[in-house]
Amino acid sequence: MKRDILKYPDPRLRRKAEPVSSVDEGVRELIRDMFETMYAEKGVGLAATQVGEPVRVVVLDVSPVVEDVEPFALVNPEIVSAEGSEEGEEGCLSVPDYTAPVKRAARVTVRALDEEGQEVEINAEGFLARALQHEIDHLDGILFVDRLSPVKKSIFRRKYAKIARSGVGS
Ligand code: NI
Repeated sequence: MKRDILKYPDPRLRRKAEPVSSVDEGVRELIRDMFETMYAEKGVGLAATQVGEPVRVVVLDVSPVVEDVEPFALVNPEIVSAEGSEEGEEGCLSVPDYTAPVKRAARVTVRALDEEGQEVEINAEGFLARALQHEIDHLDGILFVDRLSPVKKSIFRRKYAKIARSGVGS
């Protein structure tokens, strides 16, 4: 079932999500809903926080950008190592009609459970590393616009207040 995506500045986007204690059928149903919602909105990643479920679950399908990466879901993902630094353009389904360059680690290692509850470790670089960091941030109540420089952040707030008033993206 497709869910509604919470939009900035909804305070529920700021909640810190709780770890999942067991990967059961309820979690797998949430994962199916999240994929359906993400594909309907043409996103490449979605965190449970964005559909109002404060649990540590993300789904990603970066195949429109990176070849040979299958869609996958992660439960309780954790960045266990990060190195390098890279700037790249980001957007977010919770912040429609706005993109900006964000500095992130260039390479990350993420440990998580898959949808069967099996431990997985992912070594990622480039766009996938960026997408993983963006989605895991959501689980901690962080949006990509929080990572802009103070000057860019104030430009965002002014520009976005206008976008929101004009009704674009609502
Ligand atoms: Ni996002």
